[in-house]
Amino acid sequence: MPLDIDAIRRETPGCASDRAHFLHCGASLPPARVVRAVKDHLDLEAAVGGYEAERRAEPGIEATRRSVARLLSAAADEIALVENATIAWNQAFWSVVWTLRPGDRVATCRADYASNAISLLQAKRRRGVEIDVIPDDAHGRIDVEALARRLEDDRVKLVTLTHVATGNGLVNPAEEVGRAARARGIPFLLDACQSAGQLPLDVDAIGCDFLSATGRKHLRGPRGTGFLYARRDTTARYEPATLDLLGATWTDVDAYAVRGDARRYETWERNVAGMLGLGVAVDLALELGLDAIEERSVRLADRLRARLAEIDGVEGRDLGDRRCGIVAFTHAAHEPDRIVRALAARKIEVGTSTVLSTRHQMEDLGLDAVVRAGVHYLNTEEEVDRLAEALRTL
Ligand SMILES: Cc1ncc(COP(=O)(O)O)c(C=O)c1O
Repeated sequence: MPLDIDAIRRETPGCASDRAHFLHCGASLPPARVVRAVKDHLDLEAAVGGYEAERRAEPGIEATRRSVARLLSAAADEIALVENATIAWNQAFWSVVWTLRPGDRVATCRADYASNAISLLQAKRRRGVEIDVIPDDAHGRIDVEALARRLEDDRVKLVTLTHVATGNGLVNPAEEVGRAARARGIPFLLDACQSAGQLPLDVDAIGCDFLSATGRKHLRGPRGTGFLYARRDTTARYEPATLDLLGATWTDVDAYAVRGDARRYETWERNVAGMLGLGVAVDLALELGLDAIEERSVRLADRLRARLAEIDGVEGRDLGDRRCGIVAFTHAAHEPDRIVRALAARKIEVGTSTVLSTRHQMEDLGLDAVVRAGVHYLNTEEEVDRLAEALRTL
């Protein structure tokens, strides 16, 4: 069934204006049903207090957990609902790092997002962990053969991969990386922040032990929401660095017991309204179908890439042989920031991605910044053409 784009846009308050939104990879436009779920819960909190409101929302929160599990083909007890992708990633990352010894190694990729890279450097500085940044292949995706060779070193104790780069259309081969990690019995942490809601995800097909993602981007959920998948067999081996009275129980004066399920990665205080909104957003993505979402987003993004290729001075900067809805480009005559401002004046919202977000990739490209247009299924062909035309007449 093709997506009913008119109906989807009618249900999106942000599509009511004449602004064309190409920032879905930053924060998307939530559908009205998500906004309503959040507001309704805030109203309930105001009426009966946060704790009573939470008690009444408990079935809804558990429904969100089940929906996220369905999104990933996981089980509900493998899902931790947290505030954002960074917390999800760090909870998993540090739980593994705690078990490492100085000289142990973590393999990662050149598409690494800055926050992950900073945590890796922190682990290096504080714990003596070595970082192996695996080179890219000729397409600009992680070189899986080079990775497999590195993993023959017994000191590699964790593989992390950014699935979809933050600043261009690259989709890294997560399944191939998962196979290489599995073959060596090394835990695999996938940053799916830019792929969740944009591409189908199946944790068994990928073979990851952990997967982190955020709500506000391609899933179109509320801000301040995210989740971590933690594989059941793996979880028992690791203890989160941040553990509170939800993730563990204070069983005796000098003893505590950690929960058995993925909720060990959660903390007690939580954004209930956001969690309810996230569930509604995930249900919508499942209802529309991730295959259909990917197919349309990529088709629109490819249309934009083709239009950009016709404009003098514009250079496409996407990496990889498989691409998603994020489109990166530069212009020989205009700095990325200037393009963002000029397009904003024409009610076209795009952003930039800089060396501060993805240092390895940007240094490889020899660039400080690119323009980033985050296309999603709810964009239209007319918006894509308007963006290209605005650039042509800049
Ligand atoms: C690839 C990637 N990973 C992680 C993050 C961090 O996500 P959050 O801001 O939800 O913590 C981002 C944010 O843009 C991202 O693009």
